[in-house]
Amino acid sequence: MKLKPTTKLRGTVTIPGDKSISHRAVMFGALANGLTEIHGFLQGADCLATIDCFAQMGISIENNQDTVLVHGKGLRGLRRPSSVLDTKNSGTTTRLISGILAGQPFETTLSGDASLNTRPMGRIITPLSMMGADITSLSGNGCAPLRIRPADLHGISYSSNIASAQVKSAILLAGLYADSETSVTEPELSRDHTERLLRAFGAELTSTKTDAGAVSMIRPCNELFGQKIFVPGDISSAAYFIAAGLLVPHSEIVIKNVGINPTRAGILSVCEAMGADITYLSKTNDGGEPTADLLVRTSELHGTVIEGSQIPTLIDEIPMIAVLAACAEGTTIIRDAAELKVKETNRIDTVTENLKKMGADITPTDDGMIIRGKTPLHGAVINSYFDHRIAMAFSIAALVADGTTTIQNSSCVDVSYPDFYRTLYHLREEN
Ligand code: S3P
Repeated sequence: MKLKPTTKLRGTVTIPGDKSISHRAVMFGALANGLTEIHGFLQGADCLATIDCFAQMGISIENNQDTVLVHGKGLRGLRRPSSVLDTKNSGTTTRLISGILAGQPFETTLSGDASLNTRPMGRIITPLSMMGADITSLSGNGCAPLRIRPADLHGISYSSNIASAQVKSAILLAGLYADSETSVTEPELSRDHTERLLRAFGAELTSTKTDAGAVSMIRPCNELFGQKIFVPGDISSAAYFIAAGLLVPHSEIVIKNVGINPTRAGILSVCEAMGADITYLSKTNDGGEPTADLLVRTSELHGTVIEGSQIPTLIDEIPMIAVLAACAEGTTIIRDAAELKVKETNRIDTVTENLKKMGADITPTDDGMIIRGKTPLHGAVINSYFDHRIAMAFSIAALVADGTTTIQNSSCVDVSYPDFYRTLYHLREEN
């Protein structure tokens, strides 16, 4: 993909469904009795991988694009798949499904693409094994492929040293099948879609804040009930258009249907701290997840510090925030974000390499990065390393860089935002 600088982005963008919620809606729908109707499902490659895995386990799923119908068969209704479950590029599919599979009376093997099979699975293998699960990394390196065999699960109180919704969710889902209650304590509250949605499906689940951190507790469950779900737009996808509106001169963009769950909305507070002009046009709370329309106008940004409990609320937006920081006056420091190293790519490295190519002043650190703005960016050949968030963040950087920018392997945006480039072109054409 080749991109050139532009001015004056105007128009309205409607953000596609939230990736995290779309995955969970299919998974919990499959485990519920009766029909689950999902409106606004994200048709990204990651979520389609989740659909395929459950279809392979005997769940009938009708994918009519905007509406997905999941004919759930109950907590004990899955059947053994005839082959390896392919989780593709999706960490969420792999880790959450492992928690479910740990409680099934049949053996399964999970494997993904080259990137997925290098991502750490020890973080779920350890707690699931403590619950009694029989789960093995077949290559012996703590990564997928994973083999999961039938086992009796018991409840545990697990204290996690990372704030990870994937780890928390894997344990809570296994907890549905345990013989007593299961709790997970994480140092900071990570995204809480599993808690909100499982509760809506009828699970008994509590969330509390203690001195030790955020505690989520689930009781073993006999039955979940099919639901009608309206998936809000993904703030992680909205982030690219928020940034485009802020950076591209003379812009004014309305971004509709943005999920603003506080465990996800860190990018909005960071933008505000950087001096961004963002107005909330309307807020709703339909379906248990707060949503808003945003009006974003071009703004003069300045540097900020991003750390601690903010990090889990914006972890996927850091590549985009790094680009904003390069275009902001002064220094931005991002710390406590070592988790960036184990995403689809090591995002400390891939952001640093690509921002440097465009002329930014960036120093990688062990748990983040330091960016000194504002440097004029110039076009470059960006290696996305097949990481969707790198491809999209640098496509927005290209709009304010001199000359032409080439994004290599840009089709990886299909993982979370198949319409990304169409939406971007549409905004430019409205000039
Ligand atoms: C996700 C949790 C986050 C996030 C990922 C989606 C989820 O990962 O980065 O894109 O849906 O639970 P971690 O739980 O590993 O932080």
